[in-house]
Amino acid sequence: MNILIVGSGGREHSLAWAIKQNPKCDTLLVAPGNAGISEITECIDIDILDNSKVLQLVKNRSIDLVIIGPEGPLANGLSDTLIKENVLTFGASKAAAELESSKAFTKSICSSINASTAKYGLFRDKKKAKQYVRNHGLTIVIKADGLAAGKGVVVAMDQSTAFDAIEDMLDGAFGASSAEILIEEFMDGEEASFFVLSDGKNILPIGTAQDHKRAFDGDLGPNTGGMGAYSPAPILNTKVVDITLRTIIQPTIDEMAKRGTPYIGILYAGLMIKNGVPRLVEDNARFGEPECQVLMMRLGAQILDLILACLTNNLLTTKVQWAEDHAITVVMASKGYPGAYRNGSTISIEDGLVYDSQQMVFHAGTVKRDNILISNGGRVLNITARGESLLLARDKAYQIVKRISWPEGYYRSDIGWKAL
Ligand code: AMP
Ligand code: GLY
Repeated sequence: MNILIVGSGGREHSLAWAIKQNPKCDTLLVAPGNAGISEITECIDIDILDNSKVLQLVKNRSIDLVIIGPEGPLANGLSDTLIKENVLTFGASKAAAELESSKAFTKSICSSINASTAKYGLFRDKKKAKQYVRNHGLTIVIKADGLAAGKGVVVAMDQSTAFDAIEDMLDGAFGASSAEILIEEFMDGEEASFFVLSDGKNILPIGTAQDHKRAFDGDLGPNTGGMGAYSPAPILNTKVVDITLRTIIQPTIDEMAKRGTPYIGILYAGLMIKNGVPRLVEDNARFGEPECQVLMMRLGAQILDLILACLTNNLLTTKVQWAEDHAITVVMASKGYPGAYRNGSTISIEDGLVYDSQQMVFHAGTVKRDNILISNGGRVLNITARGESLLLARDKAYQIVKRISWPEGYYRSDIGWKAL
C-alpha cells in the first residue's frame, strides 16, 4: 500500500523507519519530513495545517493510508477532512483530539468517569485565579487550556512564579490557547507515559515509556517537550497498568463513544504514579516525542499491522509481539532550548556509523544544505539504541552521541537514571 506520514519530528522519522520495513508498505511519503527522513524515503514539503493541500497530495499520489503524527493537524481536523473523502486515516478526529487540545475538556471527561486526576479550577479572570492560588497554597500548577507546543505548563513553587504565569497566560502568551487557564493541584510521584490503540470501543496497550521533561541533568531546569526517554517504564508494572486501563483508559474510551465522538487512534496517557496508584496528568492524541522513538525501536515493522488492526476493528484479536529488551533515546537540542535558540548551525555525524535494528539516529529539527546537516529546531537529533538491559542500551546510545560533533547543541548525560 501507499502510505503518507504527516509530520517532521523524530516521531515521524521513527514511524517512517519502522513502517518502511513492513512488506505491506509499497510507497512511503512523509510531509514535510526532515533531513533524516529524506535519507530513507521521499519527503514532500507542504503546509500540513492546510487540509486541502494534504488531501490533494493524497489524491495525486494514490495514497491508501495516512498516518498523522503531530497534534496540530489533528486539532485542525485533518483526519475529518480525509475520512470524509474515504481516505483510510490513522489520527483522531478533531472532536476526539480535544482530549489533547483542551485540558478543560479532559477534566470534564475525568469528572464524568470519576478518574483520578489533580483537583483544579478554571479561570479567565486574573483576580479570581490569584485568589485560588492564595487559597490553595504551593506547590501549584498553572496550565494553558489549549495547545502550546509543550510550553503551556508552569509548576510554580512560589507565589510570584504562579502570579507571573497567570498574568502571562491570561495576557495571551499562547494566544487563544491561554484565554482560559487551569490551576491545578501539584501531584507528587513518578511520571510515566502509557500508549494504547483504540478503535473507538476496544483498546490494545502497545507500550510504556518514561520521558525526561526537564532540560538539564538531575531533572533540573525548565520543562521541555522531553529530553530523552526509555521503554519499558518499570513503574508501569502489570498491577498499575491494570488499574490504569480499568479506571482511566477504558472509561475514557467509553465516555467518548457515549458522547458521540468515538476515540479512534493512538491515545497517550501521561500518568503520575504514587504508591502504586496512577493519576492522569494529561491525555495526548498522538505518539510522544521522543517516546515514539523508543517504542518504534522495540516494535519495529509490526507497528503498521497494529495500525491497520486498529482501523479495521481487529484490535481484540491482535497481539503485540514484544522483544524482551530495552530502548533508550537521548535528545540533542539546540543550546537555549526550550527558550530562544539559533537555527542554522552545522552538525557532523562521523562517517561509518552503522544504523540497524539496534541503533538509529532519528532526526527532528534538521535540514540539509549543500549536503551539510544543519540544525533547524529546538530538539534536533534523537540518538536511539536498544539492548538486553537498559544499561547496555544507554551505553550504546551515549557512545553514538560521542561520534556527533555539534558545538551549538546540548544533551542530558543522565537519561534513564531513575530506572538504573
Ligand atoms: P502536561 O502538558 O499537562 O503534560 O504538563 C507538562 C508536565 O508538567 C507534565 O509532564 C508534568 O511533568 C508536569 N505537570 C503537569 N501537571 C502536573 C501536576 N498536576 N502535578 C505535577 N506535575 C504536573
Ligand atoms: N514527550 C512528551 C510529549 O510528547 O508530550
